[in-house]
Amino acid sequence: MYLKIKQLLFLSSVLLISSCGTKDQQTGKSEIKEISMVVKSRYLNLPVSQAADRAKMTFAADGRQVKEFVIRLAPEKPDYWVFYDVSKYKGKALTISYTGNPEGLKNIYQDEYIAGQDSLYKEINRPQVHFSSRRGWNNDPNGLVWFDGEYHLYYQHNPFEKFWENMHWGHAVSKDLVHWEEIGIALEPDALGTMFSGSAVIDKDNTAGWGKDALVALYTAAGKKMSQNVAYSTDRGRSFTKYEGNPVLGPDRDPKVFWYEPKKTWVMVLYNDNYNIIYNSRDLKKWEEKSIVPGYYECPEFFELGVDGNQKNKKWVMYGASGTYITGNFDGEKFIPEYGKYYYSWGSQYAAQTYNNVPDGRRIQIGWGRIEHKGMPFNQMMLFPCELTLRTTPEGIRLFCEPVKEIAILHDKKHFWTDLTGEEASEKLKEVKSDLLHVKMDLEIVHGWVTEVLFRGNPVVSFDGNFNRINGAPYICDKPGIFRFNIEIILDRTSVEAYIGNGKLFISEVLKEKKSDEGLAFKGGLKIHSLEVNELKSIW
Ligand code: FRU
Repeated sequence: MYLKIKQLLFLSSVLLISSCGTKDQQTGKSEIKEISMVVKSRYLNLPVSQAADRAKMTFAADGRQVKEFVIRLAPEKPDYWVFYDVSKYKGKALTISYTGNPEGLKNIYQDEYIAGQDSLYKEINRPQVHFSSRRGWNNDPNGLVWFDGEYHLYYQHNPFEKFWENMHWGHAVSKDLVHWEEIGIALEPDALGTMFSGSAVIDKDNTAGWGKDALVALYTAAGKKMSQNVAYSTDRGRSFTKYEGNPVLGPDRDPKVFWYEPKKTWVMVLYNDNYNIIYNSRDLKKWEEKSIVPGYYECPEFFELGVDGNQKNKKWVMYGASGTYITGNFDGEKFIPEYGKYYYSWGSQYAAQTYNNVPDGRRIQIGWGRIEHKGMPFNQMMLFPCELTLRTTPEGIRLFCEPVKEIAILHDKKHFWTDLTGEEASEKLKEVKSDLLHVKMDLEIVHGWVTEVLFRGNPVVSFDGNFNRINGAPYICDKPGIFRFNIEIILDRTSVEAYIGNGKLFISEVLKEKKSDEGLAFKGGLKIHSLEVNELKSIW
């Protein structure tokens, strides 16, 4: 039934297409360079081939150019389809021109559904407990802010190919940090450039004059020059109006903005060629430089946390895109580093950002998982949201990262055992059939120096006691001479996340192709003090 409707819509959209072009003098064949149609449906579906060269495509609505981007339009059989929401042009004549091989233009069609809607979120390599974009590419999370019951997740997005280009801000929302709804494009490239990374705040006191509680995004436009820009939304982050006074700041990129209550000022941390610059503003438009912090690269993040939860003993944490961090003090204008730089994160995570305005005060972070999903029409993903805390360890104050407690919403069948050897545990684990898992374990090396947690024949967590490393990352156990590990693992279709030592080290990696059908298993002379395995429900 659905297919029939789809075919009818396809035919009607093709009938509306008229084409124009030039005639090749030698072959007499006509070269169609553009097509036109009256927009009747929500989506335009476009065929992509990775073998085709990138070339410029433009859309004109009723004769006015409204969009320009590059795409590898498939001249013949596409590798996959991408889509663009054209509902705002309904009833208008849309002309699509292409500077590359125009052969594929005739295959572009309108529909109420995206091509591949039937299998959406059920694709074989689609992450089932993480957010990934329906189509195309994602990198950094942007504009993470909670507002009116929703966690907003904007993100660096190429809607037209599964690799980096054409940066837009994509947008998804969640009420519980685990189930996500992709809304669509929030920020489109403009005359100042494509939309690079940035952050979002809620303007509770209407400091900018766009209304109390306006959701304000601060982002980099990457044109011939980089510039910092402002856009605001008064419809719960669904649509944005760009400030007419843009740009508000010169070069550099990736503004992270937050409210600093003691001085009643907005603070921006901006990345500039190997250091971060701290600015202040009263109205989110005029920014005054206050200080610089050397030693950082891309996507600054800066926030305050109580040490061991003590709100009377707070420290500031500054990290860049790699996550390496310094702890210290901040007076609203200048950051005074005390300790670091340290690692808390290792592997695929990059450009993580934390939420502004979370009602219960938790410091919740989402990182970009640099993970490819073989054969899929989309690429990369967001890592599982985690809560950041500062805790005292034998080595000093360190940043910890653990999955948000909302992961329990996804728990399905639970398995639990205590006091097992590694072999016994591997035997018991045979009853676990799912490959979407949230596992917690407390294990200890009783002889030898290697510990491995395996999944489908590959080590997913592996401790090398000779070099003192977990999955390659240097790791120190809390008690000298005792090699006991508290490990939490999230396994999804294409990724593994491991939180070691209650989150002192966070590892995220691509899940290797399976070598055997065996699920979780252990290697090493181990005592498993406790083992909890939760099978997970899909978020889709
Ligand atoms: C980090 C980054 C940012 C930039 C964005 C562009 O991954 O390079 O510095 O704003 O990605 O997509």
